[in-house]
Amino acid sequence: MPAPQPSPAAVSIEPIVTLQSHILQQQAVSPEATGTLSWILSALSISTKVIAAKVRGARLQDVLGTAGTDNVQGENQQKLDVIANEVLLRVLGGRDGVAIVASEENEEPVILRDDPAAERRYCVLFDPLDGSSNLDVCGGVGTIFSILRHDRRARDAQASLLQPGARQVAAGYVLYGSSTVFVLTVGRGVDMFVLDPAAGAFMLVERGLRTPTTCRSYSVNEGNRRTFPEGYQRYLDWAQEQGYSSRYVGSMVADVHRILLKGGVFMYPPTRKAPQGKLRLMYEANPMAMLIEQAGGKAIAAPGRRILEIQPGDIHERTPVVLGSAGEVDQVAAHLG
Ligand code: AHG
Ligand code: MN
Ligand code: MN
Repeated sequence: MPAPQPSPAAVSIEPIVTLQSHILQQQAVSPEATGTLSWILSALSISTKVIAAKVRGARLQDVLGTAGTDNVQGENQQKLDVIANEVLLRVLGGRDGVAIVASEENEEPVILRDDPAAERRYCVLFDPLDGSSNLDVCGGVGTIFSILRHDRRARDAQASLLQPGARQVAAGYVLYGSSTVFVLTVGRGVDMFVLDPAAGAFMLVERGLRTPTTCRSYSVNEGNRRTFPEGYQRYLDWAQEQGYSSRYVGSMVADVHRILLKGGVFMYPPTRKAPQGKLRLMYEANPMAMLIEQAGGKAIAAPGRRILEIQPGDIHERTPVVLGSAGEVDQVAAHLG
């Protein structure tokens, strides 16, 4: 009788994971998941691929410069701000799970579906193109998004949207830099994907990103220094005495991305021109705060005041922002004290 053949040993293969398959895997391990959030995340993936193509073609097509209009903040809209906003509205508008969208570029939230009997739906808030003044000089720009559960009992769209950032079910950004990077959290750590232009898909490059606890680097617009509250000025004196580096792009997505990977602290303090700070709570500060906290960092508006705990009063309200490595945020807070 011939000896039994040993069964072949299992081969371990490093899998290629796309954003799409990652989202489906996450859905499979969440017993309460219905697939609705997955559809919304996939809409964000498609929209940002379209926006990435527009940004990449900016020197070749007529998409640079100003659109000749102002947004709700009275800021001049770049053509690409308007294009990116439209892409997101149109793609998200086609997803049944989206009840309301709110954008930096639209004064009022857009109600897409208000059937009170409908199944679980979501609100999506976004800054379609962050750092857009960097476009004309080929600088890094991005899209920031925040996803909240739609409150069907709320009396109107505003009331459903005005939830503290701690209630976000997902948040992320896409950086259109030297590569296109999609950074996502659904409240179980932070994962990073890079767009493979040949495959047309975002590929997982890092799971469970952690921001370093310390890094001697700060990121702030020092041109405004004389109008910062004194505590920030004391912090900057201290950091410079300690030999800290300064890194500031002027595009929140690019600055925060560097801090997520390398550590340091990003700040947008109150200034004379912007007494509440410049950055918008609901679609800039909250999603970045969730990502940074999920990566082990801290995000505060003032000492002892977590950004994610702020109860918003208006969808376009602004907040001071200090976020990044836990140890570095603590240093700023100690000087603000
Ligand atoms: P947006 O282009 O969406 O209006 O955002 C610009 C923001 C943010 O990206 C950046 O951190 C900040 O403005 C830079 O402001 P300053 O030029 O005042 O430093
Ligand atoms: Mn912005
Ligand atoms: Mn913007």
